[in-house]
Amino acid sequence: MARTINIGLIGCGGLGRVHADCVKRIDGAQMIAFCDTNESAAQKLSDDFGGKYATTSADKVLSDREIDAIYICTRHDSHASLAIAAARAGKQILIEKPLALNLNDCEGIAREVEASGVHLMPAFKMRYYPLVQKAHEFIPAPLIVVGQMMDNRWGDDHWAQDPVQGGANVHSQGCHTTDIMRYFAGSEPKTIWATGGTFTHPGHKCIDQCVASIQFASGRVGSWIQGDAAQGQFTSKFFFELFGPDGRSVQLYDRLKKATFFDGQNTWTEERTDEEGFYLENVEFISALKEDRAPALNAQDGIQATRIVLAADRAIRTGEIQHL
Ligand SMILES: NC(=O)c1ccc[n+]([C@@H]2O[C@H](COP(=O)([O-])OP(=O)(O)OC[C@H]3O[C@@H](n4cnc5c(N)ncnc54)[C@H](O)[C@@H]3O)[C@@H](O)[C@H]2O)c1
Repeated sequence: MARTINIGLIGCGGLGRVHADCVKRIDGAQMIAFCDTNESAAQKLSDDFGGKYATTSADKVLSDREIDAIYICTRHDSHASLAIAAARAGKQILIEKPLALNLNDCEGIAREVEASGVHLMPAFKMRYYPLVQKAHEFIPAPLIVVGQMMDNRWGDDHWAQDPVQGGANVHSQGCHTTDIMRYFAGSEPKTIWATGGTFTHPGHKCIDQCVASIQFASGRVGSWIQGDAAQGQFTSKFFFELFGPDGRSVQLYDRLKKATFFDGQNTWTEERTDEEGFYLENVEFISALKEDRAPALNAQDGIQATRIVLAADRAIRTGEIQHL
């Protein structure tokens, strides 16, 4: 597509604003329609980002022939229905994580995207941090991958804590960590065992802390910690560590803005001043559309990330190793 990519945003909350701000910084793309069930949220974002219109009707945006791509930035319970409708309308799709909270919904989205011949990119922003990519190049086939995403305790009334809209920390955010662990391992998970429970929100339906061991098809292994017990003040919320077969290691910390590399003899640290994941994922999606190619990630990546999270949940509840 040589011309400007026109984008319609569905879900004008916190992440809708983040994506609108990223698109504004990218040449050859513009957000022209802003949709939210909350009319004033849609209007505010449309006013702030120079939209052509604000609406409460997703159908209006999906049937707008001027629009090439839809950004789905709603809560998790509406991801599947909106993504399926967007695919049927022939729109390219960027969808916030997780693809959906259950595999039926994830697979339903993937089927519709394939049948419609559109592209769907799940928004796993961590893939695009330059130091994440550098760590992967430094140790492309690690023996051991460590992935940790540990937040401060989520408020009981936070929507993401709701079992239907959000799924709580492990279901809502675990897909970020499991996606990156697949990426670093360069292999799909084969078996997973996990323990944990509902520690920070006693009596809640959802599991909020998870400690898991993953074996990949390559035979290499991963250790995954997810929850909202407290942010590590040295590691920050996001922490990954790779151990290579040739005596190398790398740690990513400070929200993936710092990485310390060890090549077996020398050690050095690289730093970035800003978090670039959101912006660079938008660059990737828009570039892919302009170049008529598939974006770096697709619905299968979204399915796999959720599949691992769900398997960990089953392992915690049953005490049994899960085979994927
Ligand atoms: N990648 C990241 O780092 C990251 C960080 C935070 C949130 N997220 C994801 O972004 C998404 C949105 O999260 P948020 O924090 O912006 O939530 P939010 O509650 O701030 O915004 C969601 C908006 O969607 C609207 N909405 C709900 N159902 C709708 C529907 N059917 N049609 C139109 N609008 C609808 C709501 O009114 C609300 O304004 C979630 O998937 C969340 O997991 C990603």
